[in-house]
Amino acid sequence: MGVTRPAAPSQARLVRVRAPGKINLALKVGARRDDGYHELATVFQAVSLFDTVSAEPGPPGRIEVSLSGLGADLVGPDQDNLAVRAAALLRRQLGRPEWGVRLQIDKAIPVAGGMAGGSADAAASLLACAQLWGLPVERDELIELARQLGADVPFPLVGGCAVGHDRGDRLLPALQRGLNHWVLALSGGGLSTARVFQRHDELAATPPPSPLTVPADLMTALASGDPVRLGAALTNDLAPAARALAPQLDQLLEAGRSLGALGAVVSGSGPTVALLARDSAHAIKLAVQLSSLGLAQRVLRVHGPVPGAQVIPD
Ligand code: C5P
Repeated sequence: MGVTRPAAPSQARLVRVRAPGKINLALKVGARRDDGYHELATVFQAVSLFDTVSAEPGPPGRIEVSLSGLGADLVGPDQDNLAVRAAALLRRQLGRPEWGVRLQIDKAIPVAGGMAGGSADAAASLLACAQLWGLPVERDELIELARQLGADVPFPLVGGCAVGHDRGDRLLPALQRGLNHWVLALSGGGLSTARVFQRHDELAATPPPSPLTVPADLMTALASGDPVRLGAALTNDLAPAARALAPQLDQLLEAGRSLGALGAVVSGSGPTVALLARDSAHAIKLAVQLSSLGLAQRVLRVHGPVPGAQVIPD
């Protein structure tokens, strides 16, 4: 990484960063590669559901983490935590293993929900530690580190709306007009991304097309700002695998459509379902009606696109 290595951490006492969750508006899955990942062509939209990571100086050489918020008890052991791995990677990159940090993660993005919550935490941790340690790191350099942590980690740094190729981590901005209003239906019990990709391979009857592209009708719909067209173009190749592993998704998707959502799609590897509304009033109505059916563990309203990871001013 081409940054100046500081001799000592900066004097900052506490840095807070928030990073958004995402919905895949389109997710096309290609062949499994030798490294175990699948080729993807995807369109991400960052939505207004944020995890917050606070970083403060910790005991020398240690990276400590504590969690609060939605589903915090479901997150794995400390050293597997992607935010911890992000801090460790940055420190290693700087050749400063003696630096310590204490991370506090406040979760709002569902855990194992297909909205890249763990990746948002990693992205926020990279930015928060870079600030805490006083590093003049360019966003592009953080994106390179993010890519080493996982396929979904670069996007929450970038935010907005982006097309992803390769493992989904080579990003280009997507032309998008207007704001989209979504209702999210959360299911109890998350899905493992690896398991969903595996099931996808088991279910796939024909080899995927090559080269893999994002659907032209979706890109046109995004650029037009017309939510009706966007709703009709939402697509996710992982949906059959997610539905096979979490059969309640069929009911949620069906309920969303019959209540008048413009589109209903499984978010990423699921099990969160995203319903597109016409506008914010429509989203409120949809959310109330969906809640009253009692099918979802939780119903949330969000909008997108929103910016990527940002330092929260004091
Ligand atoms: O990148 P991340 O570690 O979040 O991915 C979790 C798992 O999901 C990978 O180990 C892989 O099994 C699967 N995956 C994939 N192709 C991708 C992204 C993820 O097969 N493009």
